[in-house]
Amino acid sequence: MEADKFKRYTVTAALPYTNGPVHIGHLAGVYVPADIYVRYLKAKGKDVIFVCGSDEHGVPITLKAKKEGITPQQVVDKYHRIIGDSFRDFGIGFDIYHRTSSKTHHETASAFFKDLYDKGVFTEEVTDQYFDEKANQFLADRYITGTCPVCGNENAYGDQCERCGSSLNPTDLINPKSTLSGEPPVLRSTRNWFLPLDKMEGKIRAYVESHKEWRPTVYGQCQSWLNGGLQPRAMTRDLEWGVKVPVAGADGKVLYVWFDAPIGYISATKDLFSLDSSEEYYMPKGKKGNWEDHWKKQDTKLVHFIGKDNIVFHCIIFPAMLMAHQDYVLADNVPANEFLNLEGDKISTSRNWAVWLNEYLVDFPDKQDVLRYVLTATAPETKDNDFTWKDFQARNNNELVAILGNFINRVMVLSHKYFEGKVLPAGTLTDADHALIAEIAQYPERIASSIENYRFREALSELMNLARAGNKYLADQEPWIVFKTDEERVKTVLNIGVQLSANLAILAAPFLPFTAQKLTDMLNFDLAAWDKAGTVDLIADGHQLNPSQLLFDKIEDDAITAQINKLQQSKIDNAVIEQEVIAAKDNISFDQFAAMDIRVGTILTAEKVAKTKKLLKLTIDTGIDKRTVVSGIAEHYEPESIIGRQVSILVNLEPREIKGIMSRGMILMAENPEGKLAFIAPPEGMANGSVVR
Ligand code: MF3
Ligand code: ZN
Repeated sequence: MEADKFKRYTVTAALPYTNGPVHIGHLAGVYVPADIYVRYLKAKGKDVIFVCGSDEHGVPITLKAKKEGITPQQVVDKYHRIIGDSFRDFGIGFDIYHRTSSKTHHETASAFFKDLYDKGVFTEEVTDQYFDEKANQFLADRYITGTCPVCGNENAYGDQCERCGSSLNPTDLINPKSTLSGEPPVLRSTRNWFLPLDKMEGKIRAYVESHKEWRPTVYGQCQSWLNGGLQPRAMTRDLEWGVKVPVAGADGKVLYVWFDAPIGYISATKDLFSLDSSEEYYMPKGKKGNWEDHWKKQDTKLVHFIGKDNIVFHCIIFPAMLMAHQDYVLADNVPANEFLNLEGDKISTSRNWAVWLNEYLVDFPDKQDVLRYVLTATAPETKDNDFTWKDFQARNNNELVAILGNFINRVMVLSHKYFEGKVLPAGTLTDADHALIAEIAQYPERIASSIENYRFREALSELMNLARAGNKYLADQEPWIVFKTDEERVKTVLNIGVQLSANLAILAAPFLPFTAQKLTDMLNFDLAAWDKAGTVDLIADGHQLNPSQLLFDKIEDDAITAQINKLQQSKIDNAVIEQEVIAAKDNISFDQFAAMDIRVGTILTAEKVAKTKKLLKLTIDTGIDKRTVVSGIAEHYEPESIIGRQVSILVNLEPREIKGIMSRGMILMAENPEGKLAFIAPPEGMANGSVVR
């Protein structure tokens, strides 16, 4: 096993921005896989630390504070709690959950910058940056919008046009506007310190290319950055909120948030080893030893768990910072995930298109492991993936309940029914017993190898295969039938069943920690180290089991429908918010209104107008006559589906020739902001020719 090369592990999970709660996308992309990896390593008895914390700097936090009329510190205090609680509630077992607004972090990040500064690493550059005179601050690229010089999109951002995909500089925009004040920004010159990535390219490339084993998505993204040519990047910003730049002449400047945030991993490690159990941090217990071993000794394996939008920062910029510092180890792997979508749409905080962890636990109390399971089974390891509530339900009911839960439940219930919960000695083993025992022996190594290669989906599906093997064994051995004739045989079958259950507890623990706990409670068994698994000697003859309880229960349709409706409501809320209010038209006189002759009619025939996309030719019974109307609704309705429908029709509109057809009248339609159409018709049938007024 490769692990022998390393004496200790430092595992990090991306520090979440502290401007909102965390959702399933965060959990699936970063925190659940990281937690599985760490729980596994700990079960292997490895020396490992697992660090994370809140990323509390950056422009979005200052804007959120401004919008809510509170200080940035108040914003981050609020979300540090909410996020920290969610992680704790989902069993994400950080050794410390730190925060970047802490004193330790400010000192650490500041000293790190000073070290590079003293080594002469940075280049100083005076550049012209856009400044918002009304808001009295320099503007990050994202806070400037204007017309794209390439495609003319009027809402392009200072760094990119989302319509044509061009990457832009703020000064490329035509008619730039600050999103803070809506005013045109002015250019002001300012001095900043840059990390000369261009000059470091050779070393960075060598580092990346020494890791061809990285996930293809990660390696590929690094290659494309490197091939595009690295540019110097400013490591300081003109902003109030953040870590002050610790050099003379840098008043009003702070460290770039992507400079200070990854140093947060180091700050967290320092406080973990300081044994200081500050309330501010989530820290089950401090650790004895030296923090520096976990960052500076070459036999430390550093692994960063992140989402794909963080790849360049963890594979290029942070390693460049560490190289420049010279003392630190570089990441051995960066198993970044792709994105998780939700019901076919991109997860979005601003559109409230998300499943928030704190809300999930209100709706599904004690079902942390169900979500952990589903998010691992569908983890976006190689490509973006979709979370749907139907799939969530199906995986719970057909996999957790029907496979894992069912196996354990049968073993427990039968053991109590036949032997009062005692595990009795096995007798002579049959071929089927030997076959199952041989299979059990293979799983610890098989699952371990998937985990060590960061293939968590595969690891989980192997775990389920072992539970399946247990179910098949019970189905084949039929202890419930054999008991009538051969009690001794049933002792053997259930003994093996209990041993397999104990194996499942050990092997499931990294994935499903709450379930593993329940299971060991039931088995009256102390969770053993990973390497103990693989045998059928885990539980001694004569051992007493505790009463049986269900590990999982079925999730019914109404619980799922409620979740889908909740999401649907977000869609409706957004449509209302996004709806452009169409200004009312000028007043008209009653006579002008009364001049319109609107009648109820019925569609008699409908057919597409040849060589057009939008037009249908309709025959309408208006009660007065039967007439032809051409209507632009072909993209919304199949002709055959509207025959017989009642409609409202303006019958005294001047006839008009459309595509060679004389159209006499107009069908009234309602149109919503998304362009969806609906007929205007009386809710119950009315005689054709009824007057609308
Ligand atoms: N806050 C960043 C994000 O949510 C991640 C920071 S990771 C760290 O995208 F390396 F900077 F810590
Ligand atoms: Zn464009």
